[in-house]
Amino acid sequence: MRKAVEARKLAYAPYSRFPVGAALLAKDGRIFTGCNVENASYGLTVCAERVALFKAVSEGAREFLALAVACGKGPCAPCGACRQVLYEFAPDLLVIMADGEGKAWQTKRLGELLPQGFGPCDLEQLRTEK
Ligand code: THU
Repeated sequence: MRKAVEARKLAYAPYSRFPVGAALLAKDGRIFTGCNVENASYGLTVCAERVALFKAVSEGAREFLALAVACGKGPCAPCGACRQVLYEFAPDLLVIMADGEGKAWQTKRLGELLPQGFGPCDLEQLRTEK
C-alpha cells in the first residue's frame, strides 16, 4: 500500500483531478506500480491498475498475489474494465483498497468484485468441446 500511495503521486490526471495509485505484488516477490494516465481525448485514459498489470506482464510476471489501490477520500474499487483485465491472470487476487493516504483499508477477493468472471478457462472449454 505504501508503494500504491507513492505511485499515486505520479498520476497524470489533469482532467478528472482524481489521482489513483496501484501496486501489484507478483508471486516472485516483485511489486509493479501504476498510476492513472489521462488523455485529452478522455477515452484513451488508462487506469492505475491496468498500468501496473501491463507493466508486470511486459516484465515477465504472470502470477499475482495481491493488488493495493490508493485513491480518493475513501477506498475505491477497481473499475469493471480493470477487474476483467486482472481476472485474466489472477482470478483469486487479493484486492486491498484504501484512500489516497493508504488508510481506511478494505479487502476483497477479485472473485467477489467480479462474480462469474469470463476468463481463459471459458475459451479452453469451447476448444475441447469441438
Ligand atoms: N481510475 C483509476 O485509475 N482506477 C480506478 O479503479 C478507477 C478510475 C482513474 C481513471 C481516471 O483517470 C480517473 O480515475 C477518474 O475516473
